[in-house]
Amino acid sequence: MARIVVIGGTGYAGAHIVAEAAARGHDVVAVSRTAPQTPARDVSYVQGSVLDLDGLGDVFDDADAVVCALSPRGDMTDRVEEALQGVIARLAGTPSRLGVIGGAMGSLSAPGGPRLWDLGVPPEYAHEAKVGIDSLELLEASPAGLDWFFVHPPIVFGAWEPGERTGRYRTGGDVVVKAEDGSSYISGADFAIAVVDEIENPAHRRARFTVGY
Ligand SMILES: NC(=O)c1ccc[n+]([C@@H]2O[C@H](COP(=O)([O-])OP(=O)(O)OC[C@H]3O[C@@H](n4cnc5c(N)ncnc54)[C@H](OP(=O)(O)O)[C@@H]3O)[C@@H](O)[C@H]2O)c1
Repeated sequence: MARIVVIGGTGYAGAHIVAEAAARGHDVVAVSRTAPQTPARDVSYVQGSVLDLDGLGDVFDDADAVVCALSPRGDMTDRVEEALQGVIARLAGTPSRLGVIGGAMGSLSAPGGPRLWDLGVPPEYAHEAKVGIDSLELLEASPAGLDWFFVHPPIVFGAWEPGERTGRYRTGGDVVVKAEDGSSYISGADFAIAVVDEIENPAHRRARFTVGY
C-alpha cells in the first residue's frame, strides 16, 4: 500500500485518480481548497491551497507519490507554474515521486515530432496547452534527485465526456495515442488506471508518457 497525495484531488482528473487509488487500497489524501460535494470512500480530504505549502502542514510527509492535477483556470489561470515550482522545491531531495497531469498539445503528432502544439491550437485551448508545456519544462529542469513523471492525456479528455471504466488503455511514449479510426480519447476512469499503474510500477522515471485507447 502506498501513501498517495493528489493535489486537485476533487477535480476531473484528480477525483478519478483518487477513486482508483483508494479502490486499490492505497492510503489516499486529496488536497483542494474546497471540500468535495460527494466525498469518495476511504479518502482523506485536506482543504488548503498548494500556493501555501506551509499551510498544508505535514500532508506531503512520507508520501510515496504526489500527483499534481491542477488546471490553469479561474483564479489559477496564471498560477499553476508557480504552484508546481513550489511542489518541486518541496519534494526535491525526498523519496516522494511527483506525477503531473498535463495536456495533449505538448505530445508529439508522430515519432520525432512535431508537437500537436506546433501544428496549431485553437485559441481557446492555447493558454492551457502552454501551461502544460511549461510544466513539463519545469520538471525537465528540476533537480536530478526528483523522481517525476508527466502524463499527456489524449486530445479528447474531460468532464464533458467522462465515459466509462473499461480497464483498457495504451501508452505511447511521447506520441499522442490515437485509435485506428483516428480518434484520440480516454475515459476519466481508464486514464486514472494508467496513472495509478505508473505509481505502482514505475515505468517512466523523469519522463513523460501519453495515454489513450
Ligand atoms: N485533452 C487535454 O489535453 C486535457 C483535457 C482536460 C484536462 N487536461 C489537463 O488535466 C489537468 C487537470 O485538469 P482537470 O480538468 O482535471 O482540472 P479541474 O477539474 O479544473 O480540477 C482542478 C483541481 O485543482 C484544485 N485546485 C485548484 N487550485 C488549487 C490550489 N491553489 N490548491 C489546491 N488545489 C487547487 C481544484 O479544487 P479547488 O478549486 O476547490 O481548490 C480541483 O480539485 C490539467 O493539466 C489540464 O490541463 C488536459
